[in-house]
Formats: sequence, C-alpha cells, structure tokens
Amino acid sequence: HVVEPLPIAKDELTPPPNMKPLHCQYRLPKDFIWGWASSASQIEGAVDADGRGPSVWDNVAHKVPGFLKKNETFDIANNHYYMYKQDFQRLKAMGVPYYSMTISWSRIFPSDSGEVNKAGLQHYIDEVNYLLENGIQPIVTLYHWDIPQVLQDKYGGWLDRKVVQDFANYARVMFEALPKVKLWLTLNEPQVFCNDYADWPDEGVPDHVFPTFGLNSTQRKYICGHNALLAHASAVHIYRTEIEPKYGKGKISFANSWDYTPSYSNSSEDILASERSLDFTAGWFGQPVYIDGEYPQSIRDVVYETLPRFTEEEKSLVLNSTDFYAWDGYTGHPVRASDDFSSCVTSQGDSENWPECFDEVFTLPGDWLIGNRADVGVSNWLYQTPRYFREGIVWAWSHFKPLEIIIPESGFSVWKENEMTEAQARYDDTRVSYLHDYLHQALKLIHEDKVKLSGIIAWSMYDNIEWRQGRDTRFGLQYFDYNHMKVYFKKSAFYMRDFFNHYMTQE
Ligand code: NOJ
Repeated sequence: HVVEPLPIAKDELTPPPNMKPLHCQYRLPKDFIWGWASSASQIEGAVDADGRGPSVWDNVAHKVPGFLKKNETFDIANNHYYMYKQDFQRLKAMGVPYYSMTISWSRIFPSDSGEVNKAGLQHYIDEVNYLLENGIQPIVTLYHWDIPQVLQDKYGGWLDRKVVQDFANYARVMFEALPKVKLWLTLNEPQVFCNDYADWPDEGVPDHVFPTFGLNSTQRKYICGHNALLAHASAVHIYRTEIEPKYGKGKISFANSWDYTPSYSNSSEDILASERSLDFTAGWFGQPVYIDGEYPQSIRDVVYETLPRFTEEEKSLVLNSTDFYAWDGYTGHPVRASDDFSSCVTSQGDSENWPECFDEVFTLPGDWLIGNRADVGVSNWLYQTPRYFREGIVWAWSHFKPLEIIIPESGFSVWKENEMTEAQARYDDTRVSYLHDYLHQALKLIHEDKVKLSGIIAWSMYDNIEWRQGRDTRFGLQYFDYNHMKVYFKKSAFYMRDFFNHYMTQE
C-alpha cells in the first residue's frame, strides 16, 4: 500500500551554515523550469506490485552475477512506489516546482497480450495527480531504458521494427491517461541504451538472458538507434495529431546524452576529429531530427552496409519531431585526431571494427581542468567542468538551431560519498560547488550567449541505484540511508533552492 506522508519536521528545513554567496547581476526569466529528477527503475522497487512484469534491467540484475556492483537488484531500490507521497512532500517543503519522473513500461504492459494493466496505469495517474495537487509540475519520460523483458524475448526489443508500433501504442495509452502533463520526453538517452544493446552481449550477458537474434554489435547499435528514432517520432506524431487537439498544447522531445568534445588544438585535423566525434554522438540522433532527416555523412561512410535508411515518409516523420532540444549535460573532454587520421576517415565498411578516428584526451589543457572530481566508476567522467557545460549548450544551440533548450538532467556524484557517514555526506560541499559553477552558466548562456535556455533539472531527487554501479555511486540532492530507508536533505538541496529563489524574476 501507498504510505500516507508524515509532516516534514521544521528543523529538517533549517539551512546549513556557510552557504555560497550569490552575486551575479543577471536574472532568470520568471517561467524558468527547475526541479529534480529520478527514474522508475532506479527508485521505485515494488517490482512485482500490481501485476508488473520484469524489465531487461531486472532480468540482467538477477541472472548475470556481478553485472551490477555487489549484485544489486532493482527489487526494493528506494521503495518510492509506496513512498511517493512522502517523497513529494519533501519536494514541496523545499519549494521544488518541477519533478521529472519516468514510467515503467513493464507496469503498463507486463505481458505481450496487448492488454493494459489497469492497476499499473492507475498508480501513475495517482502519482501525477498527487504532484499536481501539491503544486508540483510533472515532467514525464516514457522510456528510461527499462523495456519489458517479454519484448526482448519475443523479438529482441529495440532490435526489431515491431518495437515502433508497441512503443507508439504504449505512448498513446500514457498520453490519454495523463492529459494534464504538459511536458513530455519520449526516450531517455537513446545513445546510452543503444550502446548497451551493442555492448551487453560482449560484456557477459548471455543470449538467453538478453536475446539479440544473431546481430553483431554494430548492427545492434544502429538498428536500435533507428527504431528508437522511429518510435520517438511515431509517439510525437500521436501526441500532435490525436492528443493536443483534444487536450491542448504541450511540449515534447527526447533526451540526448553526449559528452561535449571540442578540439584539443587549432590544427585542422583535430577540428575535424572533434566534428566527427560529435557526429557519432550528438549528430547520430540530432541530425535526422533537427537538420535534414539523414544520419551524419561520417556515420554513413563507416557503417554504410549496416545503417538502416529512412524512407522519404519516415524522414518527414522524424524531422522536426520535437518542440525543444534536450541535453543531459554532465561532462566533456577534448578530442584530437588519431595518428592515422587521414587514412582512417577514408576506410569504410568494416562494420565490426568501424573507425571513429579520434582519441579522447583526459589530461586536460588549461582551464579545462577547472572542475570537480566525480565518482562514477568510469574514467571519462573524472572531471566535470562548467566550461564544457556552457560551450556544449552553445554548440547544440548553433548546430541544431532548436526553438529552445532544456537540460532534463545534470548532476554530480561526490567522490566516495558512499563511504561517508550520513552526517558527512549531507555536507556535500563539492556538489554545492559543482551546482554553483554549473547553474551560474545558465545566467551567462541566457544573457551573454543569447541561448533560449528554458530549464535545468538536477539529477537526482535522492541517491538511487546508479545502474551497474549499484548503490555505490550517489547523485542525490538528498541522502538516502538504505539501512533505515530514511531520507535527508543535503546541503546541495538548499543551495539549489536558494539559487533559484535568488535569481528568478518574480514578475
Ligand atoms: C543519466 C541517466 O539518465 C540516469 O539514469 C543516470 O543515473 C544519470 N545519468 C547519472 O549517471
């Protein structure tokens, strides 16, 4: 049962000492969107509740020993499924105006019968109503990596064209059930989940756990991406043609994930390598949607025999299928041309070993080094620098020319926070300093770079299961004590509140 909330004690809301001063002369527009984010699998738990079926992540966590650190599973997570009222009362107490949540597809369609699981659907209707009743605006993502295992078993999930229709049906059900939601994301970070499709089978996930129907890793990556783009665009088509005429205008997009990779030097080869790097990450999903309905030429050259093609009709479905550009802005690093750059870029077609032709640079030159050391268990996330954040947004703005940009996720995992006591972790001054540096870029982006940046959502509402890193990597603005299933505000939560209270224009 969903637990009724207790009042938040006053002393929990006492601001911690030594908050960083705020003295930039710029202001944010009064409708600037800010809030905190989470995702269904990472926080809900209750994996069997109300008729839910397993997702691919539930399955892999249970069936592949060690795939998640310390053999973590998603079974309990933060128990948010039952505790959402309490969790949302905490957002309200902190004055958080937006909450970005995701729907577990496996709760809505636990089997492949095509029948909606009414109890699962009702749960999300209740959650969204509860947010709205408490004055918090929901931002809803339909898919955050957790495809139902039945669809993986049946046809390979994102590897088969059938997923497009299944996703579109699911999207329609959710749009119809949640007409008061006005800000939607179809897919979270297709770059990431399609790379998982490419990588998992090579990282020890056996085919009976994650069937891939004999496709090689390049095929898995690009076929997944192709179906993801068509699924996204089909959902948007439904939203625009069926839902908006009935319930009024909303905004819809999908969230991109890429590292901003500028050129290491002014040499023309390094500059080309940087463009190439961004083609393979941002351009892969960005060019078809924002530029011309085609994949970047550099990708087409390399994976020419594998890359699926869009028909003319599909091109026009995909092109302009968003109302804003969404970038999960976390990190970046320079790149430079690989030693064999010129021969590399002209070699084609080895689809098992396709050349990107650039090297990532992790000894950062000059002020790239200014940033905070993060703890995510992956080397290229070692430093998060505010400079890349600002330049990455400017790059996306000028390259894709969207109507506006929203950052649906940005966040920071404090180095070894999991080894701290709750009392230590709550004084998360490095996260505060990260937030301070990053959030101030928003003021400069709007006033100096003239970017229409409409919102920044922080990852994450509280510490949660960081996928393969399990509970060891903490991104929360609230500390989650897993032993007692208790939540505490960290200093960063207060900082974020103060930042927006200070800089947002009231009138
Ligand atoms: C992006 C993903 O959407 C989210 O699930 C993840 O926890 C954060 N980044 C942090 O890595």
